[in-house]
Amino acid sequence: MNFMKYIIANWKANKNLQEVSDWVNLFNSHIHGTLLESLNNNSIQCIICPAFPYMTYVSEHIFNHKNILIGSQDIAPIEKGSYTGEVTAVMIQDFASAVIIGHSERRKHFAETDESVQKKTTLATQLSLTSIVCVRGTEDFIPSNSSMVAYEPVHAIGTGMNEPLDNVIEMKKSLKLSTEIPYLYGGSVTRDNAKEYIDSSEIDGLLIGSASLDPIHYIDIAKLIG
Ligand code: PGA
Repeated sequence: MNFMKYIIANWKANKNLQEVSDWVNLFNSHIHGTLLESLNNNSIQCIICPAFPYMTYVSEHIFNHKNILIGSQDIAPIEKGSYTGEVTAVMIQDFASAVIIGHSERRKHFAETDESVQKKTTLATQLSLTSIVCVRGTEDFIPSNSSMVAYEPVHAIGTGMNEPLDNVIEMKKSLKLSTEIPYLYGGSVTRDNAKEYIDSSEIDGLLIGSASLDPIHYIDIAKLIG
């Protein structure tokens, strides 16, 4: 049984340096009270996933505190070498402790496959990076060494049509996950609909896209825990 709730911010290909800096400043100034307590007593872990160029900035400027971590939105499926444009797990581990793998947008636009998801998850595991493996449903392969699994139905991503809680719980059963693996939900989560997912003992956290772009919305969701 997992008592910690993971609140993951997936910024995708958004924000320039000024916007990243504004986000971090606002976030830092709101870490107090019950949220600080929840971080301290391991009720919550915040994982912020900026685009590659801003990972250093965020890791150096974000409130330095237990359970506030940096994640990457992807890693290369190879260890190192002549692969122009790739960013490897070894590079990532200097700035982050987690990585999102197999997001449906990568499957759709960048030819991510079950095979590359497996390779990336293995590389992440070798370097002790927490792998947050995304699945669209039962059609996607889940590597046995995944650290967390995020169910993100495509019709719910960025559409405002979040998946009803019952369906998310049904999918957990269909995926036949080991009880050790935290199970997250993602898809149009907002501060107005997050509470029912957070309150469910079947769901260990949320992967948040659009709503995480505003630090106040992100923090309002995090504050629902505890
Ligand atoms: P969304 O994105 O919250 O904007 O729907 C979620 C995701 O794709 O991780």
